[in-house]
Amino acid sequence: MSELFAQSIDARTRYCAVYGYPVKHSASPAMQNAGLAVLGLNWRYVAFEVHPDNLRAALNGAKVMGFVGLNLTVPHKVLAVDMVDCLDSSARAWGAVNTVVFEGRSKDGAWRPLREFTELPRELRSCGFNTDAEAITRAIEEDLQVQLRGAKVLLLGAGGAGRTAALRLAAEQVSELCLVNRTMAKAAAVAEEIRTRHPGVKLTIGYPGGSVELLVNATSLGLKPEDPSPLDQNLFPVHRAGAVYDMIYRPAETPLLKSARAAGCRTANGIGMLLYQGAKALELWTGQPAPVSAMRQALEKNVYAA
Ligand code: ATR
Repeated sequence: MSELFAQSIDARTRYCAVYGYPVKHSASPAMQNAGLAVLGLNWRYVAFEVHPDNLRAALNGAKVMGFVGLNLTVPHKVLAVDMVDCLDSSARAWGAVNTVVFEGRSKDGAWRPLREFTELPRELRSCGFNTDAEAITRAIEEDLQVQLRGAKVLLLGAGGAGRTAALRLAAEQVSELCLVNRTMAKAAAVAEEIRTRHPGVKLTIGYPGGSVELLVNATSLGLKPEDPSPLDQNLFPVHRAGAVYDMIYRPAETPLLKSARAAGCRTANGIGMLLYQGAKALELWTGQPAPVSAMRQALEKNVYAA
């Protein structure tokens, strides 16, 4: 990695960036530059604070300047759906764009990713992808060694993150999904959506009897030290879950994860979601497998360094 950074930026350097508002907290530059360094590419990944009013202009700016791609974070993911030139099915399915790939029209008339061009083509377009949703299930499967297909899952939370997790888990063909949320009506609405889109999944509102293979926290409870637990252990003692995934990654170990670990459950926090959405974005831009372990190391260093 140090070798690449010793090499200075030159006129051939290619760029990727993240746009956010705010963006200074973003760990993506550390993670993506580590990945680019391992791949030996003369590329850089930078961060820009872009006001939502300027998102359209900023997307166009990156396009005409020959950026290879972008990540979008809060509050741009939904806004960008109507701003990119084309949408991949992943972005259409989730109604949000977190990754943009710029493409150029080649001489044979086909659209190709900009990495394939040495000269900037005249015709350019932006394509919106979503790598967030897939990252949820990849993180759970790889970090917890859980086989989602056929699993019984207890999911806490039915807000934005909870709904996406529920739909993703259903798409992976879990056998049963038990939804728990403070506001019951929101859990019921998510359940209804899943019944329509994934009729093979058994749905329960409320805590299940017996055990589950996986418990997922998709609420925001645990971010602050004074938060109550998202899990009511009078109704569902945590030892009845084989594995526990907390989508929160800061703190690294929430009280829920701590009690799960003490009860002998396998545990993982949400950093893997950040990692795998970034790894997939890097793969879309470069066309190469992402160096996941170097990216994880850089990400953890950035997020957890004192
Ligand atoms: P996100 O996009 O991160 O999912 P969100 O849509 O605001 O954010 O959802 C937050 C989730 O945390 C919801 O499931 C919310 O429960 P409600 O749907 O009942 O609001 C849950 N949550 C937040 N604060 C909570 C609290 N004090 N007690 C219980 N659940 C809470």
